[in-house]
This record gives sequence, structure tokens and C-alpha cells, in this order.
Amino acid sequence: MDKLKIALIGAGTWGRAHAEIYSSHHLSKFVAVCDVSEDRAKALAQEYNVKYFTDYEKMLDNVECDAVGIVTPDFAHAKPIVAAAERNKHILTEKPLATSYEDLDLILNVLKGKDIQIMVDFHNRWNPPVCKIKDDVDAGKIGKIVSAYIRLNDIIYVPTKMLSWAEKSSILWFLGSHSVDVLNWIIGAKVERVYSVSYEGILKSRGINVPDLYQTILEYSNGTVATMENSWILPDTNPYVNDYKLNITGEKGMFNMDFSHNTLLERFLEDEASHPDVICKPRIHGKPTGLAYESIRNFIERIYHQEKVLISLEESVAVTKIILTIMESAKKKEPVRVVY
Ligand SMILES: NC(=O)c1ccc[n+]([C@@H]2O[C@H](COP(=O)([O-])OP(=O)(O)OC[C@H]3O[C@@H](n4cnc5c(N)ncnc54)[C@H](O)[C@@H]3O)[C@@H](O)[C@H]2O)c1
Repeated sequence: MDKLKIALIGAGTWGRAHAEIYSSHHLSKFVAVCDVSEDRAKALAQEYNVKYFTDYEKMLDNVECDAVGIVTPDFAHAKPIVAAAERNKHILTEKPLATSYEDLDLILNVLKGKDIQIMVDFHNRWNPPVCKIKDDVDAGKIGKIVSAYIRLNDIIYVPTKMLSWAEKSSILWFLGSHSVDVLNWIIGAKVERVYSVSYEGILKSRGINVPDLYQTILEYSNGTVATMENSWILPDTNPYVNDYKLNITGEKGMFNMDFSHNTLLERFLEDEASHPDVICKPRIHGKPTGLAYESIRNFIERIYHQEKVLISLEESVAVTKIILTIMESAKKKEPVRVVY
């Protein structure tokens, strides 16, 4: 089979990472890029010698491709998904799948009866410690999971300087979607009810009208109780951009993961003390390596070999519905049942 031809929608920070993998993987060929910013689309197109567009409908009508990567802001995934699905392209979309029930309906309607695959880039499914926990849980090593605690926070640089569209998303969509996916995957049951409390004021005072954090309890159908913390206001002096911890307690044992900054590598320079990333997105011999790239590579390989993608549409729909319910709970200040 010829290489898998992939077109990209969204040439921002993470779109560049997608482009690098599409163009370097031996099974894929990067064929075109679209961004509403012509400068960004053109710059990336010139780097990789591909065609560029500012309208994805035009790109999809004019460029021959097998799959489409969607790396637009969190709230802007649904319309490009619909456009790609209407043209029967396989889809790799950044997380979350959607940020509203309306967008979920659009996506589910267009996918009905289509012989295409869609995967949301929940890259923690390729995170080595998370995968080890999952294997051990499935092998029964800690018995039934009783409780879980997951903390996935960002330094305040992310909503205030890195993302121009933070106000149209939230820490729940940006990182909480990963948290819910990790919990659901490891616990292996359905979230029945959530109770969330949010705090706001710090980001608002900087002109970004979103909650600073959410503290959430999730009750699972098998009795497991999980606690989830997602904050967007950690100080920029935190040694790493994320603060990521996971505890899983079972009847017969426990796992504790600290992915925030470990002691694998401490770096002390004249003006900086830090724990550089050596697992998520490091470069080894100049090449992008690590779990954040592995998910993109795995999508390419599975589509090329006509295998099922590793994360199902149903799982990603559930993540969006759970987060919408968490937001509803925080607003109402009461527990809310998740409707699937
Ligand atoms: N998997 C990961 O490790 C990871 C890391 C960072 C971001 N992300 C996700 O990737 C997505 C993009 O994040 P980012 O940091 O690259 O954002 P960004 O703002 O840097 O880039 C988004 C790009 O999309 C473009 N865009 C917006 N609407 C468009 C449209 N209708 N058509 C074409 N282009 C459009 C913007 O002009 C911008 O260039 C988000 O969903 C984010 O959550 C994933």
C-alpha cells in the first residue's frame, strides 16, 4: 500500500508536532496544511514542502488524502471533524472530542454508517507508568480498585501566555479530559455521578474569564470513588509545566505515580533550577520521542495496517459527557448524574 496521506488542520504549537510526525514516519506522507492564519499555514507548508490553505473545506476538496489531523483549539474540533467525515477521511483529533452536547450530536450524526476511524489523542494511553498500572490492575495485582486520586494541573503561564483561546476552553477541557480518560481506562467502569466545586478569581483578575480550578469527586458504577483536581494557576516557578500525580488504591495494594517532576534528571544552571522533560516530549538524537508523539505514530500505524485504533469513539464521547456534567455540578453546587 502507498504511504498514508495525511492533511493537517491547525498549524499552531501542537499542529507543528503533528506535522513533524506525519512527515517523518515511514508509513505516512504529510500532504497539506490548513490554518485560518495564512502566515502560519504558509510557514509550515514551506518547511515541509506541502500545499497550504486557509479553508479546510477547500483543502479537503482539492487535496488527495486518506486521513486528517485536527489540531485546532479545544472548542473548534467538531466542524473540521464533520468536514473530514463527510469526505470519508480517517480522523485523528486532538483532545477533547467536543466541548458541548451540540457538537457531540454533530459528530455522532456525521459518523453514523461511515466506514472510517476516528481517534482522540489521549496520549496517556502511551504513558509508561500509566500503562504499567493498567496492566497490573488488569492482572488483579491490587484487587478491586477502592479509590483513585488524580491531580493534573498547569502553571499559570499556560492560560495566560501560551493559549490565546484559554477563555473559550478551561482546565477541565485542556487537562481534565486526560484525567477522566486515565481514570476511566484504569478503573474500567462507568462514572455514574459527579460532584464538583470550582474556585475562581485569579484568572478573572488577569482578564481570563474561566474558573481557576475544579475539585471533583466521581462515583463509578463498580463502587470506586475517584477524586480529581485540575488547576490552571500553579506558579510559573513550578519545576515543570504540569503537576501530575496519580494514586490508585485497591483492596490488596496501591500505586503512586509522580509525573510532575521526578529525580530522573535535575538541572541546575546559573539562573535556573529545573527538571527537564525526558518522558513526554523529549528529543533523542534530534528526533521527537516520548508518549506525546507515540499516540500520533500509533494512529498512523493502525490506520495504515487497517487495524482498529486504540481509543474508541464511545470512550471519548463519555469523557466529554462527564466533563459537561462536572461543569453542571460546579455551577449548581450539587451532585449530578451523568446521562450517557
Ligand atoms: N496532545 C498533546 O500533547 C497536546 C499538546 C498541546 C495541545 N494539544 C491540543 O491541541 C489543540 C491545539 O492546541 P495548540 O496549543 O496547538 O493551539 P494553538 O492556538 O497554538 O494552535 C491552534 C491553531 O488552530 C488554528 N485554527 C483555529 N481555528 C481554525 C479553523 N477553523 N481552521 C483552521 N485552523 C484553525 C489557529 O489559527 C491556530 O494556529 C488543542 O485542542 C489542545 O488541547 C494537545
